[in-house]
Amino acid sequence: MAFSKDFLWGAASAAHQVEGAWNEDGKAPGIWDALYPGHIAHHESGLTACDHYHRFREDIALMKKIGLKAYRFSVSWPRVMPRPHEVNPKGLQFYADLADALTEAGIIPMCTVFHWNMPMWLYDMGGWFCPEAPAHFEEYTRVLGKALSGKVKYWFTINEPQCFIGLGYEFGRHAPFLRTPPEKLPEAIRIVMLAHGRAVKALRETAKQPLKIGYAPTGSCFTPENETPEAIGEARRITFETHGAFSNALWADPFILGSVPDMMQGVLSEEDMETIHQPLDFYAYNIYQSMNLNDRDGKLNPRVWPGLPRTSLNWPITPECIYWSTRFHYERYGLPVIISENGMANTDFEMLDGKVHDPQRIDYIHRHLLQLERAADEGIPVVGYMYWSVMDNYEWAEGYDPRFGLIYVDYRTQRRILKDSAADYAEIIRTNGASIHR
Ligand code: GCO
Repeated sequence: MAFSKDFLWGAASAAHQVEGAWNEDGKAPGIWDALYPGHIAHHESGLTACDHYHRFREDIALMKKIGLKAYRFSVSWPRVMPRPHEVNPKGLQFYADLADALTEAGIIPMCTVFHWNMPMWLYDMGGWFCPEAPAHFEEYTRVLGKALSGKVKYWFTINEPQCFIGLGYEFGRHAPFLRTPPEKLPEAIRIVMLAHGRAVKALRETAKQPLKIGYAPTGSCFTPENETPEAIGEARRITFETHGAFSNALWADPFILGSVPDMMQGVLSEEDMETIHQPLDFYAYNIYQSMNLNDRDGKLNPRVWPGLPRTSLNWPITPECIYWSTRFHYERYGLPVIISENGMANTDFEMLDGKVHDPQRIDYIHRHLLQLERAADEGIPVVGYMYWSVMDNYEWAEGYDPRFGLIYVDYRTQRRILKDSAADYAEIIRTNGASIHR
């Protein structure tokens, strides 16, 4: 019996990608609100996005139609803390209302504290290089813990440090669009790690109920070429080898094992490690593709064949990545696993019959869930699966072209349409996985 009876079938989003209302009700600008010009496809921005801030009740009604058991959202830091040490009650109220409305709809709310839109006031003080950033992050998390921990049991401190440091600080592709020399990055990485540790403590200290706390990394996962012990060993080895900011082990060994990766030797003190190494309740992972077939570095990859199945972002479709990453992470870290993001970008549009048919996405979800089921069948405690994303949204530097949602959004009118994949996922949820094509 694969998926447990209380398996968390869910979907995810992030504040800046869906909310809009970038300057309403006391919200201050974040780095993605202020620094985007010149960096985004078609000169788009996330300032309006899906207008979810005003339409969250309508969106939750659609989530209820799908039958979601859980919904992972993130909080906008500059909406809650528009200035240092200053709480914006209206901003905080939005998330209390959101959590309440989800609970009323029978959907378990899951909260990510930081999904990339750092307040400009903190960026101006040095961003992730600011030595005070962990204290500010702790203060912000404490505010959330006090206001929301009675309503929200599942928490993720930071989302994809690999990306906001790698793409944001090293490769200049995401806000704040910096190109920091790699040798300077460990300083910022240390600050992020301290922020995570202090946030975990702040949540435990303010908790109004026992909380389940983790964070949501991504990383470069490699899958074995075949299932011989040698090939499996090799894939495991490369998966945990250090690949700069995108490394898996860099962002998990210190948090979970309390060990210092090579890249951070001499940077993290013993005292730092006491803060960083906090007990966690699950290992969450955002996983979209195996790196074996990834040829984004422009080098010839002999494993890539012409016509390889790809999403509209050109990401290879490699469902086995979900089994192997779950297995490797469970073996190494021993924590129950939540797939906190998995999904595909597609060129969805409204068809002549007024519907959005997305058979590729249905197939993508089935293939990936079969692999997750394999992990569960082998006895790995898999707690949940959050499809990315609940609705089409602002895909950062790529703007609005890549559509990841179960719900189609017409950005001109903000009209929503449930895609075929939403109905199909609803059936998977209703049958607890029994309807997955085998
Ligand atoms: C991510 C991000 C999402 C992306 C998604 C698709 O955590 O990378 O959490 O914001 O939209 O991964 O690229």
